[in-house]
Amino acid sequence: MQLYEAIEGRRSVSQLGLPVPGHDVLARVFAAAGRAPDHRVLRPWRYLVIEGDAALRRLGDLFLAGMRSVDPERAERDAVKLQNMPLRAPMIIVAVLRLQDHPGVPAWEQWLSLGASVQNLLLALHGEGYAAMWRTGDVTGLDQVR
Ligand SMILES: Cc1cc2nc3c(=O)[nH]c(=O)nc-3n(C[C@H](O)[C@H](O)[C@H](O)COP(=O)(O)O)c2cc1C
Repeated sequence: MQLYEAIEGRRSVSQLGLPVPGHDVLARVFAAAGRAPDHRVLRPWRYLVIEGDAALRRLGDLFLAGMRSVDPERAERDAVKLQNMPLRAPMIIVAVLRLQDHPGVPAWEQWLSLGASVQNLLLALHGEGYAAMWRTGDVTGLDQVR
């Protein structure tokens, strides 16, 4: 796939199904993610791969527990929704900012570097024939989830 074709052709897909990328594909796409512009080579990103029904359900439990601790009413109201959120995809790749205290690299540069890395990841997955969608949602800000 040519570069412009890949950039133009990538689309977010909200309902994702099987198959998930295997180890070889993941190794290639994470190598691409690691080639993002990165001032002073801080590598300010970490990726967690959450895959399979049991692991995704554990993440859903965490969403619910995290919400309970800040907004018990909403947790009660949206319990099923919160628990099922991670089940919209058979694999979730969590992008984590590993912010470092560096005199020459402010936090905003590290955030942008992480964003560039995620874009590389999305494009690489697209190039490998896999759909994806970048999502955050307010649950990612909950202390327990973080
Ligand atoms: C950091 C970030 C977080 C996002 N979070 C969400 C989200 O939680 N829910 C959502 O519907 N779209 C979210 N989006 C937007 C989608 O990932 C996507 O870019 C948008 O739907 C446009 O589709 P496209 O990627 O096919 O152009 C987010 C985008 C970014 C960059």
